[in-house]
Amino acid sequence: MTESQEHQTSGNYPPPKNTINPDTELGWIRRLLPITRSHRKPLVIGVCVGAIALILNVAVPAIAKEAIDSTIAGSRYDLTIWALILIVVGLARFATGALYRISLFRVAWGVETDLRALLYSHLTKLSFSYFDRTQSGQVISRANSDIRSIQVLLAFGPLIAMSIISFILAFCFMMTLHIPLTLVALCTLPGVYFFGQKLRHSVFPLTWVSQARLAELATIVDENINGTRVVKSFAAEKQQVGLLQKAARHIEWVNVQTIKERAKFNPIIESLPRIGMAIVLLYGGILAVDGEVSIGTLFAFNAYVIMLQAPFRMFGFLLLQTQRASASASRIFEVLDEKPEITDSSSAVTLIGVRNSICFQGVSFSYKGSRSPGVQEKQHAKSEIISNLDLSISAGETVAIVGMTGSGKSTIARLLTRFYDTETGSILIDGIDIKEIQLHSLRQQIGIVFDEPFLFSTSVSENISYGKPDASDAEIHEAARKAQALGFISELEDGFSTVVGERGYTLSGGQRQRIALARCLLEKPSVLILDDATSAIDIGVESLIHESLKSSLEETTTLLIAQRVSTIALADRVVFLEGGCISDEGSHSSLLSRNPRYASIIAESNPEMMKELN
Ligand SMILES: Nc1ncnc2c1ncn2[C@@H]1O[C@H](COP(=O)(O)OP(=O)(O)O)[C@@H](O)[C@H]1O
Ligand SMILES: [Mg+2]
Repeated sequence: MTESQEHQTSGNYPPPKNTINPDTELGWIRRLLPITRSHRKPLVIGVCVGAIALILNVAVPAIAKEAIDSTIAGSRYDLTIWALILIVVGLARFATGALYRISLFRVAWGVETDLRALLYSHLTKLSFSYFDRTQSGQVISRANSDIRSIQVLLAFGPLIAMSIISFILAFCFMMTLHIPLTLVALCTLPGVYFFGQKLRHSVFPLTWVSQARLAELATIVDENINGTRVVKSFAAEKQQVGLLQKAARHIEWVNVQTIKERAKFNPIIESLPRIGMAIVLLYGGILAVDGEVSIGTLFAFNAYVIMLQAPFRMFGFLLLQTQRASASASRIFEVLDEKPEITDSSSAVTLIGVRNSICFQGVSFSYKGSRSPGVQEKQHAKSEIISNLDLSISAGETVAIVGMTGSGKSTIARLLTRFYDTETGSILIDGIDIKEIQLHSLRQQIGIVFDEPFLFSTSVSENISYGKPDASDAEIHEAARKAQALGFISELEDGFSTVVGERGYTLSGGQRQRIALARCLLEKPSVLILDDATSAIDIGVESLIHESLKSSLEETTTLLIAQRVSTIALADRVVFLEGGCISDEGSHSSLLSRNPRYASIIAESNPEMMKELN
C-alpha cells in the first residue's frame, strides 16, 4: 500500500479515546490518568494476576522449607506430594507471570501509542509560528525518547512495585521463622541500597547529557540528509562529517563515562548478596547445629536473601525512572499545552466562494519568535514586514504583486490563508473578517502554489490529487493538461503512476512546479495565489500555461506574485509593494513608464528587457 492510500484508509485506526488532563497545575501522573484509564482492562488484569504471581513467588521457598523439613523426618510418599505441589506452583507462577507481564506491557504500549498519536495530531494543529521557532530535531526527540521513557516507567513501575511488596511479605514470613537470623540475613541490603543510590547519582546526570546529545545528533543527521544538495554543492561534506563526528564523539564520551560509573559500583552491588549468603550459612549453620532452626529454614533463608536483592536494586531504578519520566512528561506536555494560535472562532462561518471582493484594511504584521521554554529558538529580528497595507481585489480580478525580494509579497499570501494572523487591521472576504471564517473552508477556497513546491514520495497522480483524493483520472488529466504537464508526464517511465523521489527531486524544478500547479488547479479554488509559481518554467512553456489558464482565470480571483514580465502581463492590475505597503498601482505599462523604481526592479529580473531597452 502506498503512503497516500494509507492516509485515505486511516479512518480504520480510531484516534485515542482520551487526551491528557488539560489542568497544568496537576502532577504528571494525574495529567496522564485519562489516557491510562482508557486501558483499564489490561491494567486491572495485570495488577490482579500480578498479585497472585507475587504470592506464589514468595511461597516457593516457604514450600521448599516445608518439603525439606518434612522429608528429613518423613517418608518417600511425602516427597512425591511436595514435588507435585512445587511443580503445580511453578506452573502457576509461570502462567501468572506471563499474563501479568503481557497485560502491563500492553498498557504501557497502549499509552505510548496514544501519546504519539496525540502529539502528532496536536503538531498538525499548531501554527506556522510554532514551527518557525522550534527545531524539528527537538520535536522528533520528544516524540521518540520522551514517550519511550514514560512507556518504560509504565511497563516496569508496576513490576517493581510488586517486587517491593513481595519483599515485605517475605520479610514478615522470615520474621515468623527466626528474628535474629532475619536481621542478619538482611544486613547487606542497606549496602545494596547505598551503592545503588551512589550509582544513580553519578549516572543520572549523564543520562540527561546523553539525551540532549542524541537530540543534537538527530538534528545534524536530519540537516545532512535533507540538505544534502547544499552540502554537496558547497563541497562541504568534510565539514558536515566533522560536525557529525563531533556530536558522535560527545555521545561516545557520555556513554563511556556512564559505563565507567557502572563498572565501579555494579560489581560491589552484585557481590553483596553473596556475602549475605555466606553470613546466613555461617550463622544459620550454627543455629541449625544447635537445633534452633531447621535445615529447611536455612534453605528458605538462602533463597530469600537472593530474591530480596532484586527489589532493593530495582527500587533505585524505579526512583530514577520516575524522575526521568516526569521530566519527559513535562516536555511532552509542553508541546501538548502549546495552544494553536490560529483556530476557528465559535461563530465561524463556512466560505463558499468569493462573490464581491477581498479587502486588506490597514493590515500590519511582523514575524515574532515568542518564548517557549526549553525549546531552542531560532532568532528573528522583530520589525514590521507589512505596515498599514490597504488593498482591495474584486472577485474575478487578476492582480499582480511586484516588489523587491524580501518586501513581503509572500507574507501577504500567508496572511490571506491565515498561516499567520494580522496584528492590526483586518482582511475581509465579501465583508467577512477571515478570522470569522472556518479555517478549513478558507484554505479549501484559496489555492496557493509556491515557487519551491513540496511533493510527496508517491505517484504523480497521487501528488496531483492530494487535495482531492477521490478525483477521477479524467480530472487529474485535465488538471495536468492545464498546467502543461501532460507532455513530460507521458514521457516518464510509468506515466502518471511514476513514483517521484523524495520531495519530488527526481523531477526538474519546472516539472515540480507544474505538478504543484496541477495539484492546485484540480481543487478549482475560488482564489488562486501563484507565488513565483512558474519561476522555474521556461518562458515558452509558461506562455502555454498562461494560454490554458486564461479561461479559468476569468472566473477565479487571482493573485500573481511574479517578477517576469510575461507573468505580470496576465494581470488586470499591478500593485507595487514597497516598505510594507502599496506605493503605487496601475497597469504594467503605465507603472513602467512613470515609476523609475518599478522599472528598475522589472529590468533587474528581466534581463532580456534590458537588452531591448538598451
Ligand atoms: N517565517 C518567517 N519568520 C521570520 N521572518 C520571516 C519569515 N518569513 C519571511 N520572513 C521575513 O519577512 C520578510 C518578507 O518575506 P517574504 O514575504 O517571504 O518576502 P518576498 O516574498 O517578498 O520575497 C523577509 O525579510 C523575510 O526575512
Ligand atoms: Mg516570496
